[in-house]
Amino acid sequence: MEDTREKRSVDYSKIENFHVIRHEDINGTGRLYGGRLLSWIDETAATCAQRHTSLEITTASIDNLTFKQGVYLNEIVVLVAKVTYVGKTSIEVRVDSYVEDKEGFRHPINRAYLTYVAITREGTPVPIPYGLKVEKENEKMEWETALLRKKNRIERSRAGF
Ligand SMILES: CC(C)(COP(=O)(O)OP(=O)(O)OC[C@H]1O[C@@H](n2cnc3c(N)ncnc32)[C@H](O)[C@@H]1OP(=O)(O)O)[C@@H](O)C(=O)NCCC(=O)NCCS
Repeated sequence: MEDTREKRSVDYSKIENFHVIRHEDINGTGRLYGGRLLSWIDETAATCAQRHTSLEITTASIDNLTFKQGVYLNEIVVLVAKVTYVGKTSIEVRVDSYVEDKEGFRHPINRAYLTYVAITREGTPVPIPYGLKVEKENEKMEWETALLRKKNRIERSRAGF
């Protein structure tokens, strides 16, 4: 079915955020807490989803949290969030996290897909008024794979996990 909603581009809500690793962010082995990175990922993605929808949203699910390498004191973590898919009431955001070295090169440490659902004050899902303008080849690919991820999530949820 054709999406007749007004559309917003991926760039409209794209967010880039950074954090310098402080003492309070590191655990006993001198590395960044995984939970700290997760909260930064959720915060960045939620801001992106809120910007696209202009609505209140809640986190429905988070896919894939593989930590590729450790992050240490005084290093800079960069998070880049962009919308990949907009359904009726749900929106998917991809967040890529990197460690940026002193030459400005970015080394990937994590990639996550988060789904948010637009809700009323009472917590009931509401339709998102803006579709997604899918223009570039990589945006088309993200959209197609988001449909597969959505299907997998529904199957997982039916199977009880
Ligand atoms: C997310 C939530 C609002 C969905 O409510 P629901 O009544 O199950 O929603 P529905 O079955 O009507 O589905 C609504 C949309 O959410 C999507 N959805 C529901 N559960 C989902 C999940 N676990 N993962 C991803 N998407 C999900 C559906 O695919 C649907 O998307 P669409 O409208 O774009 O097709 C509800 O489960 C909830 O409030 N969960 C708690 C959220 C929360 O507190 N988050 C903070 C964590 S501390």
